[in-house]
Amino acid sequence: MGSNETKMTEFILLGISDYPKAQKVMFALFFVSYLISLLGNSFMVGLIITSPVLHTPMYFFLSNLSFLDIFYTTSSVPQLLVNCFFLRPTISYIRCVIQMSIRLFLGIAECFLLAVMAYDCFAAVCNPLHYTLIMSRKFCIHLAVAFWTGAFVMSLIPLLIQPTQFCNYVINHFACELQALLKLSCSDIFLKEILLMVNSFVVLIAPFLFILLTYGRIAMSVLRIRSITGRRKAFSTCGSHLITVSIFYGSAISTYVLPKGKSSSNHDKFVSLFYGAVIPMFNPLIYSFRNKDVKGAFLRLLGKKISG
Ligand SMILES: *[C@@H]1O[C@H](CO)[C@@H](O)[C@H](O)[C@H]1NC(C)=O
Repeated sequence: MGSNETKMTEFILLGISDYPKAQKVMFALFFVSYLISLLGNSFMVGLIITSPVLHTPMYFFLSNLSFLDIFYTTSSVPQLLVNCFFLRPTISYIRCVIQMSIRLFLGIAECFLLAVMAYDCFAAVCNPLHYTLIMSRKFCIHLAVAFWTGAFVMSLIPLLIQPTQFCNYVINHFACELQALLKLSCSDIFLKEILLMVNSFVVLIAPFLFILLTYGRIAMSVLRIRSITGRRKAFSTCGSHLITVSIFYGSAISTYVLPKGKSSSNHDKFVSLFYGAVIPMFNPLIYSFRNKDVKGAFLRLLGKKISG
């Protein structure tokens, strides 16, 4: 038996840093950011569900985003926190595959959801008179079913190409991600990497191009608006979404699409830390600070609590 052909049952997750001092700081940092994103996102979901003023397509999709972000951070950050206490934390093969599938599914769902939200903005700005007709309750539910199912199907494809034999058991990442796992494979991964690129084209670049086109159309119709208040209104509808999209796709594309050098694993690790732990924390903040409807709903909720 060749020693390099053994079927591995456990991996070592290198995590973010080996230095004990740095680990303490990391622990504090990620603990706080995890709490903020859990609280912020649960708060958004609760507020949107309980406030009739927020029962519009935009907020329904936003609550889908918050819902998604709760699970996305939970798929890696608690484990990252626990692993701060171990010198060489391990993860079993099965848990690794489960974690990888959940992260793939949620990541892809987020890509699709942001495209759906862009379409919603487009309908609101470019077609305000027919907005309620276009984004009917039924159509929104169809869209939601479509992107959740689409994400599920597209997350199965990379799973089929995941390696089963490994020559190395040390994952240079804080969570199991396909990219990091492929690097440990014994066999030639050229074909698999090509398949993965095709897949990430469908789930990442295609929605991104759609969003770019949509924002192009939005920008054109905003430029046609003469009044300053009209422009401001359009910007307040889509501004928050544009910020979220830029941060999310910026970091995702820099991981999955841009060519990389030797230090690529470290780069991947930090970028996925960014959208796994930091972005989910900012989404609720971006949407609530900039938004009159959310503030209004919140104050109304407070008022109800105080008077009731
Ligand atoms: C997701 O969006 C759909 C469609 O608008 C909505 O019916 C559903 O309640 C949302 N789900 C969550 C958890 O926010």
